[in-house]
Amino acid sequence: MANAPFELKGKSVYVAGHRGMVGAALVRRLAREDVHLVTVDRREVDLCNQAAVFDWFAKTRPQVIFLAAAKVGGIVANDTLRAEFIYDNIAIAANVIQAAHQNGAEKLMFLGSSCIYPKLAPQPLREDSVLTGPLEPTNEPYAIAKIAGIKMAEAYRSQYGSDFISVMPTNLYGPGDNYHPELSHVVAALIRRFHEAKVAGAKSVIVWGTGTPRREFLYVDDMADACVHLMKTYSSAELVNIGTGEDITIAEFARVVAAIVGYGGEIGFDTSRPDGTPRKLLDVSRLAKLGWRATTSLEDGVRRAYEAYLSHT
Ligand SMILES: NC(=O)c1ccc[n+]([C@@H]2O[C@H](COP(=O)([O-])OP(=O)(O)OC[C@H]3O[C@@H](n4cnc5c(N)ncnc54)[C@H](OP(=O)(O)O)[C@@H]3O)[C@@H](O)[C@H]2O)c1
Repeated sequence: MANAPFELKGKSVYVAGHRGMVGAALVRRLAREDVHLVTVDRREVDLCNQAAVFDWFAKTRPQVIFLAAAKVGGIVANDTLRAEFIYDNIAIAANVIQAAHQNGAEKLMFLGSSCIYPKLAPQPLREDSVLTGPLEPTNEPYAIAKIAGIKMAEAYRSQYGSDFISVMPTNLYGPGDNYHPELSHVVAALIRRFHEAKVAGAKSVIVWGTGTPRREFLYVDDMADACVHLMKTYSSAELVNIGTGEDITIAEFARVVAAIVGYGGEIGFDTSRPDGTPRKLLDVSRLAKLGWRATTSLEDGVRRAYEAYLSHT
């Protein structure tokens, strides 16, 4: 594990995916740094289009890259749009990493996901458990694409000496989340469902699955802060998990969200819906040794996420 100070000051910094939940949080966080921020709209440069990406990089030559663009979604999206999840995510990673290399980027951070770890890997999930067993089938295409991105960053470091690093965030939530009724992640889905139930005066809300799986949730502005911290301090082929190190059952979490939203009815569970991985908690000891830990409590984070949701409905 390598501590390597890297100066961000004065650099041109490209946030790929700046309109997304994480990308927008990175833009908010980078506003506190003395950097020249670079972004480009997807309508101008589709990151799946190799020629467009190569042209734009040759013209722009960003020195630092946060690769936060990806096709992202919850369990249903991952399981039904399997071709799109593998194609888009491999294409985005391949195009951006190769373009960064060709244009002499000084540093790149690739954002993976905790889905890359085997379904039955020992918990909490350590970085070295990647590729030690079969993946959760529902999001295998997404995970394989993310593993390809990680391996690319590693290979470019090994062959060309590129300062490319990879981080594995846990489940994220916060302003800018996707509230699509069927394609969202669990936090956004619960905020929306409890809010709509409160407004409609519904007597019960049904949560998908048994409620027993355990999950870890990180507020997205904490995630952005961790990324900037690692960009400035870390250089190694080894992955770094980014999470809180604490998990909670979906049932307990649903009660937290219901309380913050102000929904007072019953909470039931639809056990015909898939649960996904039984437990997903990251081992964050490497991150802690690198000098970072999450500071936003689950209650504060959900409250801020709900406020952001209300301001957009
Ligand atoms: N959300 C989570 O819980 C979570 C957990 C672990 C890891 N991550 C990782 O964190 C990163 C960001 O996730 P997020 O939650 O911020 O996702 P998001 O809100 O869906 O944002 C993704 C961004 O990528 C952009 N994008 C997708 N395909 C593109 C393309 N072909 N060309 C150009 N831009 C494209 C989107 O652009 P448009 O806005 O124009 O569509 C959007 O700005 C991803 O790498 C994801 O795998 C997220």
